[in-house]
Amino acid sequence: MTTSQTPATTRFLTGITTTGTPHLGNFVGSIRPSVEASRRPGVQSFYFLANYHALIKCEDPARIQRSTLEIAASWLAAGLDPAHVVFYRQSDIPEIPELNWLLSCVTGKGLLNRAHAYKASQDKNQAAGREADDGVTAGLFMYPVLMAADILMFKAHKVPVGRDQVQHIEMARDIAASFNHLYGEHFVAPEAAIDEHVATLPGLDGRKMSKSYDNTIPLFAPREQLRRLIQGMLTDSRAPGEPKDTEGSALFQIYQAFATEAETAALRQRFAEGIAWGDAKQVLFERVDAVVAPMRERYEHLMAHPAEIEETLLAGAERARAVATPFLRELRAAVGLRSLSAQPAAAQPAAKASRAAQPAFKQYREADGRFYFKLLAADGRLLLQSTGFTAPKEAGQAIARLQQSAADATEALQALQPQLAPVDGVATSDVVAALQALHAAV
Ligand code: TRP
Repeated sequence: MTTSQTPATTRFLTGITTTGTPHLGNFVGSIRPSVEASRRPGVQSFYFLANYHALIKCEDPARIQRSTLEIAASWLAAGLDPAHVVFYRQSDIPEIPELNWLLSCVTGKGLLNRAHAYKASQDKNQAAGREADDGVTAGLFMYPVLMAADILMFKAHKVPVGRDQVQHIEMARDIAASFNHLYGEHFVAPEAAIDEHVATLPGLDGRKMSKSYDNTIPLFAPREQLRRLIQGMLTDSRAPGEPKDTEGSALFQIYQAFATEAETAALRQRFAEGIAWGDAKQVLFERVDAVVAPMRERYEHLMAHPAEIEETLLAGAERARAVATPFLRELRAAVGLRSLSAQPAAAQPAAKASRAAQPAFKQYREADGRFYFKLLAADGRLLLQSTGFTAPKEAGQAIARLQQSAADATEALQALQPQLAPVDGVATSDVVAALQALHAAV
């Protein structure tokens, strides 16, 4: 359960909010790289449809359902292999909202006050002369906690996200650390994985392709609609024969995301030679369609057979729950949501009271980046002070050795001498007595 062990496989996890229809920008920025990443050796992927998150921004039930179907069909059509990737729908995992609550109870409200998405809503309200929290739901405010639950539930190491989500991953780390500090090392600290090579596509009007700008090209638009959309792209007014700029040309950038380097070089040449915009659009259309057409067929099949997708997602949920159910059981026990018959309440003094009366080890990190521990007497007096360890695990092991020593406490202390700093005015016998008291208490 320690986080410092190097795992044999790296677990990637990412969620897709189910509010829209996948467009070319989603394909290039997220679907394609994620499907490729899932095929790399040593990688285990958990990809899911974040439909609880969708409820935060969308109050149209039909749209949530439709988008869930379209997104699932798109990822499968793009080559996601559900036998290899654990592919599921967030709302099929009841452990996630339950974990959301456990995490809510260790998350500072102040941490959430600092979330960019929440602050942006407040700023907008203030600019419009409204009350700061006008129209802000508790769901929006709690968004980062739900996202932390998604990630921490599966002990993900890497979370591929866009830059706008990096703060949320940092919050998930903070929340994990708070929980671990209170209840022991249960969670793995996740890291954001940002692919520097992935392009952000411009949309029909040249701004970033985004649903909020209404400038998208749907990934699986039928062929004729795709042609019409591309023909309608905004270009400058240069006439046929006039050299065209590739720099800043949305058309060229989209082409580049779908073409090989040689093809891109060839189009660059034709731009310089003054290709007509109409012809350039035709080249782009053919190139995009060549990539999309084989996937489109599969997409259309899946959209016509939603029961197949449903079955795939339920099978994915079963695999996800094989991880989530036992882990949540462990977490419930850790926080004290326990069966009363397993541990008679009367036999166990209240944890706080017994802790207060016992000597205690404290583990911490100093500004020098090293890991330390100390042993405090029941009255708070310093009994032992360690020197710095390079890894938290080493400090933990030293503590464990001392903690487990009873009759041989003196020897255990002796063995650790090189790692201890002198403490004035403390007799070895005091330390040994404290260690024995600790041993007796566990
Ligand atoms: N908030 C993410 C987004 O809008 C979607 C998401 C939900 C997510 N839960 C997640 C991403 C967990 C990564 C991990 O893009």
